[in-house]
Amino acid sequence: MDEKKKIILTGDRPTGKLHLGHYVGSLKNRVSLQNQYDQYILIADMQALTDNAGNPQKVRDNILEVALDYLASGISPKKTNICIQSMIPELAELTMYYMNLVSVSRLERNPTIKEELKLRKFGEGAVPVGFLTYPISQAADITAFGASLVPVGEDQLPMLEQTREIVRKFNQTYKRNVLVEPQALVPEISRLPGIDGKAKMSKSLGNAIYLADEPDVIRKKVMSMYTDPNHLRVQDPGNVENNPVFMYLDAFGTDKDKIAEMKEHYRRGGLGDVVVKKYLNEILQEVLEPIRIRRKEFEKYKPEVYKILELGTKNARQLASKTLANVKSAMGIDYAQSLFDESKKIRKWKIVIQKTKS
Ligand code: TRP
Repeated sequence: MDEKKKIILTGDRPTGKLHLGHYVGSLKNRVSLQNQYDQYILIADMQALTDNAGNPQKVRDNILEVALDYLASGISPKKTNICIQSMIPELAELTMYYMNLVSVSRLERNPTIKEELKLRKFGEGAVPVGFLTYPISQAADITAFGASLVPVGEDQLPMLEQTREIVRKFNQTYKRNVLVEPQALVPEISRLPGIDGKAKMSKSLGNAIYLADEPDVIRKKVMSMYTDPNHLRVQDPGNVENNPVFMYLDAFGTDKDKIAEMKEHYRRGGLGDVVVKKYLNEILQEVLEPIRIRRKEFEKYKPEVYKILELGTKNARQLASKTLANVKSAMGIDYAQSLFDESKKIRKWKIVIQKTKS
């Protein structure tokens, strides 16, 4: 028997189409790693509901969009199980058990949660319990599949740390090494700024280039990108650090010598933003064209995409239910089944009501 392949798990919330930020932070790694690993990718619709409880339609509609983005990017259903979180109830069960191992204040200290709370503006005292506790549900996602590797962007590192803590706490408390401690796999460039120069590309900030964007949309977005605000005239020396245009070039360009030369020229002065942007546009068009073409192809075969999701979910559920059984056994709470099994042995039922002697 060949050696068992290691397992990868990642996920995305289906709240919109995927963009270049997803591609750089995680998607690209998933496409290349699916050959060596057993990969599961979770369309995390339950997690999406933690801040979209009033809008399940949005979550529902975006499941297909995200699936199309995966397939278009080169995630192969032959190598990767794409699955839908809400169809794997074992994940919710695991979450319940893990909840007892995490304190409220630990969740409140989670840097990703803190950051997201600022953006979400739930209002004083109105943070949904589900939102605060989603790191626990994410730990359930990761551990349910026994994932040892999680390819994510750096914004997800606190989630991984939280998961690792839960794993250690669980294994320690129940004195069995049931859960696997996962490692994050973060690419060298894992975070893209938005086209407006804000720290993060995100759908909610409206500063994203989507994998499905049409060529003229891409071009318009690139040409409108924020650059060095002090680089007013072509002959002025410019800054390439924290300049989104150059950060994108670093992330997507393959001709590193040419990019180094352009940076030098820009720093010195004499290289205009328009020239750099035109070059970036060429590069992004080249990266996105095959993805867009494949996406349109898959869009024509939606029932087959649903089938891919169904099969991926089925495989995922099998694995998750094994983990859940191990978890319950380690906790010693698999007794109810054995009580039920006992009663099955009884052939004839006779309810005896014994009166206590007076
Ligand atoms: N929290 C991740 C995001 O917002 C999505 C996600 C859900 C995830 N479950 C996961 C990522 C498990 C990695 C592993 O993008």
